[in-house]
Amino acid sequence: MTAATRPAVLVTGGGSGIGEGIARVLADRGWQVAVNDLDAEAAAAVASQVGGVAVPGDVEVPGLVDEAVARCGGRLDGLVNNAGVILRSPLAAVTLEDVDRTLGVNLRAPMLLSRDALPHLARTGGAVVNLASMTAESPQLGGGAYSASKAGLVAFTRQAAIEWGELGVRVNAVAPGMVRSAMAGAYADPTLAEGRRRLVPAGRIGTPEEVGTVVAFLLSRDAAYVSGETILVDGALAHALVRSIPQAP
Ligand SMILES: NC(=O)c1ccc[n+]([C@@H]2O[C@H](COP(=O)([O-])OP(=O)(O)OC[C@H]3O[C@@H](n4cnc5c(N)ncnc54)[C@H](O)[C@@H]3O)[C@@H](O)[C@H]2O)c1
Repeated sequence: MTAATRPAVLVTGGGSGIGEGIARVLADRGWQVAVNDLDAEAAAAVASQVGGVAVPGDVEVPGLVDEAVARCGGRLDGLVNNAGVILRSPLAAVTLEDVDRTLGVNLRAPMLLSRDALPHLARTGGAVVNLASMTAESPQLGGGAYSASKAGLVAFTRQAAIEWGELGVRVNAVAPGMVRSAMAGAYADPTLAEGRRRLVPAGRIGTPEEVGTVVAFLLSRDAAYVSGETILVDGALAHALVRSIPQAP
């Protein structure tokens, strides 16, 4: 298949971590990947490794979808809203700037990028996948506006699914638990990493590629009748609360 006939997908924040894993999995499965990242060098490096194109820049700046479509031979079959930030702060001390930035990158940008992608996706029968988080349901202590932004993203996923279904565009989300990446920086400390690992019923921290394969499923025709759904990718962590309650012998 030539670049123009291969299905094209824009992955935001694809220069590292989960986004990089998603870009790798999708490229392996035949997608032409437009790799966006705020870090232009990281976007270029991943794009060249996966045989895709780099579309560096801030997801909050308009024009990203048009650029990706132009660089991918005029088509777009998938949008993965992966770029995200967590600005740590107790809620009692949260600042206007941090709330604006967190909601801007994690919620406003996915809404506006999806809107911009809609006409292209309607032409190709394409789909959107949003990177939510387990913390949309179980808030992250000291995570500032992060959990609220992810809960908003889940609500947006559902609304877009019902508004855009008749156009043939599906919208879903994945909600990772604990996955190795720069954002989840705790894994450099072996004690902290081990403490986290023990909490996960699957017995290990997830990898970016294990999120990528679920994203690939949601973008594929195998998920043709799945829309408005959020799939936990967490090794059953979200369901393990009772397991951590000390029990009588
Ligand atoms: N790592 C986890 O355990 C975890 C868990 C739940 C959800 N998530 C979500 O998964 C997604 C990816 O997280 P990650 O752990 O790979 O994070 P990360 O910080 O390792 O990578 C995020 C990437 O997005 C880029 N980015 C940040 N702001 C951007 C912007 N404004 N425009 C363009 N690019 C931008 C960064 O440069 C970086 O390359 C995020 O939405 C995050 O909230 C991660």
